[in-house]
Amino acid sequence: MTSSLNQGTLCHVIFIASLFCVLVIPSLAELQRFKHNGNSNQPLNFLVIGDWGRKGTYNQSLVAKQMGIVGRKQNIDFVISTGDNFYDSGLTKVDDPAFYDSFVNIYTAPSLQKTWYTVLGNHDYRGVVEAQLSPLQRKKDRRWVCLRSFILDAEIVEFFFVDTTPFVNKYFDSKKVAYDWKGVLPRGPYLSNLLKDVDSALAKSKAQWKIVVGHHTIKTAGLHGNTVELEDKLVPILKKNNVAAYINGHDHCLEHIIDQKSGIHYLTSGGGSKAWRGEIKKLDPQELKLYYDGQGFLSVQITKTKVDLVFYDALGRVLHTSSITKNLKPKA
Ligand SMILES: *[C@@H]1O[C@H](CO)[C@@H](O)[C@H](O)[C@H]1NC(C)=O
Repeated sequence: MTSSLNQGTLCHVIFIASLFCVLVIPSLAELQRFKHNGNSNQPLNFLVIGDWGRKGTYNQSLVAKQMGIVGRKQNIDFVISTGDNFYDSGLTKVDDPAFYDSFVNIYTAPSLQKTWYTVLGNHDYRGVVEAQLSPLQRKKDRRWVCLRSFILDAEIVEFFFVDTTPFVNKYFDSKKVAYDWKGVLPRGPYLSNLLKDVDSALAKSKAQWKIVVGHHTIKTAGLHGNTVELEDKLVPILKKNNVAAYINGHDHCLEHIIDQKSGIHYLTSGGGSKAWRGEIKKLDPQELKLYYDGQGFLSVQITKTKVDLVFYDALGRVLHTSSITKNLKPKA
C-alpha cells in the first residue's frame, strides 16, 4: 500500500517534471511581444532611423530636428531604430551619459516623445549590451524599448525585430575588436532558436502586413555589402512567410531596393549621423529605386491596402516616395 502510493507520487513528479519541460521551457524561448494599441481605422505612422548616436555631431541634431517636424505632420505612433544606437562602442555601463547626450537630449521634439522600438547593431555589441537592454533606461526615458529580438503587434502590421549581429562570422573571428557575447553563447543554439522562433511567429501571424527589422544589410549597394549569413539563413524565412519588407541600417545611407524575384522591399535607414561614405556598388536599376549617400530618415504610413514610404534628407527635403501594394509583385 505504502509502496504503491510512493510509486504513484513518483509518477506524479515525473509527469509534472515532463509537463514543465514541454510547456515552460519553450515558452521561455519565445519572442517577447508588444502590442501597439492604435485606432485600426486610422493609418499607422512611424519613422525609421539608424546608426545615430554621436552626441549630435555629423548632422545627428539636424536629422533629429527634421524628424520632429515630419513626426508632427504625420502624427507618428512610434519610432523604429535599426541599431548602432551609440558610437563607437555602445553604452559602457547603465549610467553611461551617452544615453542622455546621444538620445534623450537630441530627439527632444514633442512628436518624438513616443516609444522607440530599438534593436542592437554591431557597434552596440562593442560595449556592454546589458546596459542598453536594462529596464533602468526606461526609468530615465520611458520611450526606450530595446531588446535583442521581439515582436511588435500593431494589428494591421506585425513587426519582427531580429538580433542580426550574432549571425556575422567576422565579428567572432575579430582579433582587434572585443564584442560582448554574454547572453548569446553558445552561438549555434542561440541562432537556431532565434530563426525557429521568428519563422513560427511569422507563420502564425494573421496581420495584413509582415515587416522584419534588423541592423544588418541583406540587399544593399552600400559600403558593407550584403550580409551573406542573413542571405543564407534569414531570407528563406522572409520568402516563405510572405514578408513585405526588411528594414535595416548598417550602411550609412538611405536605400530602397526591390528584389525582382521575391518582390521583397529592402529599406535601408542608416543615415542617422555620420554618412557620405562615397561608396555605391553596381545594382540593377530595376531593383535600386533609391540610393542616397547622406543623412536622413524614412517615414512610413501603413493602411490595410498599402504601405507608403517617404525618404527625407537632413534638411527635410523629400528624396524618394514609393508605395508597396499588397501582393503586387513588381514586373520583371
Ligand atoms: C550635413 O548635411 C548637409 C545637407 O545634407 C551636407 O551638405 C553636409 O555635408 C552634412 N555634414 C556632414 C558633416 O555630414
